[in-house]
Amino acid sequence: MNATLDTAAAFAAAEPEKNLIVTEALKKAYGYGQLILDGVDLAVNEGEAVALIGANGSGKSTLLKCLIGLHPITAGAVSTFGIRFEGTPKTREKAKIRRQVGFVFQNHGLVRRLSALSNVVQGRLGQPGGLRAVHQAIAPAEWREAAFQALDEVGLADKAGARADQLSGGQAQRVAIARALTRRPRLIIADEPAASLDPAAGHEVMALFRRLAKESGITLIFTSHDMEHARDYSDRVIALKNGCIHFDRRSKDVRDGALEEVFRD
Ligand SMILES: Nc1ncnc2c1ncn2[C@@H]1O[C@H](COP(=O)(O)OP(=O)(O)OP(=O)(O)O)[C@@H](O)[C@H]1O
Ligand SMILES: [Mg+2]
Repeated sequence: MNATLDTAAAFAAAEPEKNLIVTEALKKAYGYGQLILDGVDLAVNEGEAVALIGANGSGKSTLLKCLIGLHPITAGAVSTFGIRFEGTPKTREKAKIRRQVGFVFQNHGLVRRLSALSNVVQGRLGQPGGLRAVHQAIAPAEWREAAFQALDEVGLADKAGARADQLSGGQAQRVAIARALTRRPRLIIADEPAASLDPAAGHEVMALFRRLAKESGITLIFTSHDMEHARDYSDRVIALKNGCIHFDRRSKDVRDGALEEVFRD
């Protein structure tokens, strides 16, 4: 059952010209399996920070992948950056979407034996001429400088030359954020970005995310199992349950009782 259209969803729906992402009755099953998403309607505005919550297996990661055409959708439609698709986007459209998205995952995914700077430069892979992003030494000077600037923005300019495997978890995740930022994405998708960090580093990383996204006008969609993170570092919280949107509200209006209900059977 879809929840009532709460205020946040109503605001986004009322301003279609600001929508960066829209889904229309999105359904998703893997192969011939059961529906993981069973009619999801949402609209995300440019510049918004959205937290996606829900129990393990509720389909958060699946939804993130569907929004950017990484997995074919089973029914309904998705429109991202004004590119509307059913099933799967055409190759060119998929590439166009991908170029404008930065990703950050739970396990930073850095190349361990490369320097922080090279890892950030690799954020350009997939962009035109992206093969030169394999290593900072062969990257165009402009990319190297932008990567250095991104490291500076996350407070790690002094670690540019350090190997990724010599960084702490929190530092590595900040490098991953710099890597996502260096391509100047319109959208950052972060799947449990703070899940493997201690509480202090987790808050630091989330606050950084929030600040950088706001400063650059980047739209941010992140998942989290930490309800403090979900509420404190977003404008809006979307809860998934039983394949549908259980609620979609302004973060400041999300009460403890509503959160408990999301995780109750
Ligand atoms: N590639 C896949 N092939 C088949 N089934 C999958 C695949 N990826 C996910 N699933 C299934 O889809 C459901 C939703 O998974 P998903 O990873 O989207 O949930 P989630 O909300 O991100 O969970 P978590 O909080 O544990 O990360 C699960 O039942 C999972 O087993
Ligand atoms: Mg997940």
